[in-house]
Amino acid sequence: MNHPCACQTTLPSTPPPAELAAILERFPSQKREYLIPILQVTQEKFKFLSRDAMIHIAQHVGVPVSKVYGVATFYNQFKLNPPGKHTIQVCRGTACHVRGSDQLLRSFESELGVAPGQTTKDGLFTLDIVACLGSCSIAPVVTVDGTFHGRLENKDAGKLVAEIRKGEGQ
Ligand code: FES
Repeated sequence: MNHPCACQTTLPSTPPPAELAAILERFPSQKREYLIPILQVTQEKFKFLSRDAMIHIAQHVGVPVSKVYGVATFYNQFKLNPPGKHTIQVCRGTACHVRGSDQLLRSFESELGVAPGQTTKDGLFTLDIVACLGSCSIAPVVTVDGTFHGRLENKDAGKLVAEIRKGEGQ
């Protein structure tokens, strides 16, 4: 996996790009308590935290880049690589676990050749695991680009992936 570690990077001499600058302007500078909110808004905007973005955020907040990188890698919610075109989220909540989400996740892993949190080499799929999606009555549940699919069996993993690939002309 691409490893965008920015730990050893020196702070930038160039200003942040306009869209990131607009985010940073919303938060007071040199206030480390705003680090996580800034990371959240930045990821919301760009879908991941680039190395450059983390460097600029470190400068704005007034902490070492290694601190920003540490926070970004500690919390599951933050992504350090751009997501694939399609995101498959497998629920790992209790109800889904009881109904076989382990096996289902393994089926997606072998179908896509990636582990949770990773993106396929062709950039088409990102596989993620999430806590309860709030639809326990149709466990086990998976979302594909936000659309719910419930009561899945292991063989459905291959079907769902094949459907998406077909839609992409593959
Ligand atoms: S545990 Fe999976 S939807 Fe609730």
